[in-house]
Formats: sequence, C-alpha cells, structure tokens
Amino acid sequence: MSTQSPATGPTTTGPAKIRLRHLQQAKEQGRPFSMLTAYDQFAAQAFEAAGIEALLVGDSVGTTVLGHTSTTATTHRDMLTFTGAVARSVRRPLILADLAFGTYESSPEQAFAHAVELVRAGAEAVKLEGGAEIAPQVRMLVQGGVPVIGHLGFTPQSVNTLSGHRVQGRDEAAARVLVEDALALQEAGAAAIVLELVPSAVADEVTAALTIPTIGIGAGSGCDGQVLVWQDMAGLSGFHGKFVKAFADLRGQLEQAARDYRDEVEQRAYPGPEHSFE
Ligand code: KIV
Repeated sequence: MSTQSPATGPTTTGPAKIRLRHLQQAKEQGRPFSMLTAYDQFAAQAFEAAGIEALLVGDSVGTTVLGHTSTTATTHRDMLTFTGAVARSVRRPLILADLAFGTYESSPEQAFAHAVELVRAGAEAVKLEGGAEIAPQVRMLVQGGVPVIGHLGFTPQSVNTLSGHRVQGRDEAAARVLVEDALALQEAGAAAIVLELVPSAVADEVTAALTIPTIGIGAGSGCDGQVLVWQDMAGLSGFHGKFVKAFADLRGQLEQAARDYRDEVEQRAYPGPEHSFE
C-alpha cells in the first residue's frame, strides 16, 4: 500500500456533514437516500466523493473482506478495527456500525458496553438485528446517547435459525409481526430501520406505518433509502442475488489489470525507464 497517497485522510471541504436528522428530513421530503457498506479508506473516500450519504461498517466485513462464510464469525474487535478505518477516512457521510453477533443479545448493559466502544471508534449510530425482543437494548442505548438503527426481515446473524438466506414476511401473519416489530423498535427510540429480503408490498406497509426512515436491501423501491454491500454494487464480489445490481465490473477490471501487470513483468516491459531511478 502506498504510504504517500495524496488521497489519504478525510476531505476537509465540501458539503455539510450528514446527520441522522438529514435521513429523517429525506423521508419527510420523500427524497430517497443512498447508503453503502464500507470497510476501508479508499472505498469509503470514493463513496464520499460520489455523495453517498451514509456508510455502514457492516458485520458483512466478515464475509466480504475476512473470508468467513457467515457474519456470525465477525467479532467485536473486527468491528472496532474497520469502523476506525472508515471513520478516520471520511468527513461527510454518516457512519453506522454493526454490533457483532453475541455482543448485544443477552442484556441492555452488554449492548451498551459494546456500543460505546463502537462510538469511541467513530460510529455515529449502531445497528443491531432483531425486533420487539431487543427493544430494551434499543431503549438503553438511546437513553445513554447512542443512536440506534434497527434491522428486520432477513437478519443475517440469525441465518442458522432462519434456515438460510430467505425472504421474510411472505405470509400475512409474518408480515404483521414485521410491522409490529418495526413499531416496537421505533417506540424504543430507533432512528431508522433496515429491511432486508422483504416483499416490496410488506416493506411499503412498514415504511408507511413508521415516522422514521426505512432503508431497504432486497425490499423494493418504496423504502426511504437503499443500502447495498459495496462489493456487490460494484461487481467485485460476483454475487448476483436477485436484489443486487452491479453498477460496474470491478472484478473484471481488477483481473485484467493484474493480467496486464503480470504480462509486462514477464516481458520486462514494466518497470520502464520512467519508473526506474538513475
Ligand atoms: O452487514 C451488512 O452489510 C448489513 C447490510 C446487509 C445491511 O447489515
């Protein structure tokens, strides 16, 4: 990695810092906002330059960067490391970070202790998965000064209890529970709720029932905002789930660049005189 990159460090000019209240205003104005996951400096800075309003340091870092097969393997230490990296790298986007599996479920106190560490690392709100059952955690975090984002529908940390990656809330009873869970999180003080893998009509119903914003991933276009894992959005991961659109082919470009580099090394075409010292 370059130690002399002019891109290093957060930008110091440009539009004003995004806060949670801006997401709330966006909902009230009917203006969809965009969020991407981010885990490292250069990607985070590219997304800031592109005007992405919120960056989520997701526990998906475990499956997109660290080589795990499930986010249940992502640790609190991982979350602190990558939250710090993103927070030090950008200035404008709102920075959200996930509470890792096993760091908040057992009590509000457990949740608060871990959330405080994420805030110290640079998170401006924390996200946790679950519905009415984690409302006490949400209440304590908010009362303690830590804004909370909820996460309903398919909740990846529960992949084992949900028996795989499946659309949630398909039948009427499940859809009703989803709406009730969303209302319980809002009532406990959540500032927004991520809806993952939920039928569009159910996501629309939740969005209409709430005064706080919903942020969809595989939940249709009616949510107040959208989020994607950045490596899916940019075509780096090769994941082609139905809800994903690859807006670039970074995997192809990276492979081609590496192939060109290898060829030039083998032909002694690189480094050329312009890359060499007298
Ligand atoms: O960790 C993550 O990337 C997430 C998104 C799927 C919303 O929680």
